[in-house]
Amino acid sequence: MLHLLIDADTGVDDSIAILYALLHPEVHVAGITTGCGNTSAAQAAENTLRLIHLARPGYEVPVVVGANAPLSGVWEGPVPHIHGENGIGGAQLPPSPQRVLEEDCSAFLYRMAEAYSGELTVLTLGRMTNLAAALRRFPELKRHLRRVVAMGGTLSCPGNVSPRAEANLAGDPEAADEVFSSGLDLTMVGLDVTERVRLRLAHLDAAERSCPPERRPVLDYMRSALGLYLDFTRFAEGSLENCPLHDPLAAIAAVRPEFFLTRRMRARVEPGGTWCRGQVVTDLRFRPFEAEYVNFCVEVDGDQAIRELFSVLCGAESMG
Ligand code: RIB
Ligand code: CA
Repeated sequence: MLHLLIDADTGVDDSIAILYALLHPEVHVAGITTGCGNTSAAQAAENTLRLIHLARPGYEVPVVVGANAPLSGVWEGPVPHIHGENGIGGAQLPPSPQRVLEEDCSAFLYRMAEAYSGELTVLTLGRMTNLAAALRRFPELKRHLRRVVAMGGTLSCPGNVSPRAEANLAGDPEAADEVFSSGLDLTMVGLDVTERVRLRLAHLDAAERSCPPERRPVLDYMRSALGLYLDFTRFAEGSLENCPLHDPLAAIAAVRPEFFLTRRMRARVEPGGTWCRGQVVTDLRFRPFEAEYVNFCVEVDGDQAIRELFSVLCGAESMG
């Protein structure tokens, strides 16, 4: 069993990643912490509670609200044109009877890491603020974590918020650089792979044909949440009826690392600058700068990833 602690800015793609983890028979979600990004940390927590209620994993999943601002400066606000007014594309999910756990996010992260000593994988789907803040306060946290898998960054693809930077790293580059420099076993699932694996409306159509009735609400939710997100992708990339699989692919990388080829390099995150803030900077020189090794996903078997996603979400076998 893979014990996962998810940190998310629960927007449209985060929500699909969270559903995948909650419904995966080989995954136990030990907790979910939220931060600002696609939406506020509080709204992300509300969305997360509703998603847990939708998935009904059969066990308790504590939800804790984390940082509503980067380590330095202020949050620039939500992105309703991509993730809707409520962060999940305007999809309406029934409220959950569960409430958020009123615990400090760093303390919660540390407590969970200690409880699962050496067995907990952290999956970050947003900015790395919560993890960096916990590492600042509890440096020994590093010893208790198995590994970190993070959606973020790009090596050779164009950025998605600037020519060189991806949103999660650009949103809090200081936090990302602290996590990069922590010595944690870190795998980055960046745009190099997430832009290549496309979620298509045709996948939803195919899944619908073989979906058992009890998973129908999950599929209905996805269709409703993805409308605006697909519209934005059409505007931003000119692509029709498909969108990149950012956060779900990171979740798949945590569970099925064999679908990915990684490259290990010393790397830091550019904390300042106008065009390059949040850029991943790797150093391949003979005498490199002071930096830890980070694993970067550089290739992915996209067909396998899509098959994995839909087989977990709705038992659909016939796609890819
Ligand atoms: O750049 C894509 C990432 O930014 C995804 O995690 C998306 O949810 C947003 O947080
Ligand atoms: Ca996200």
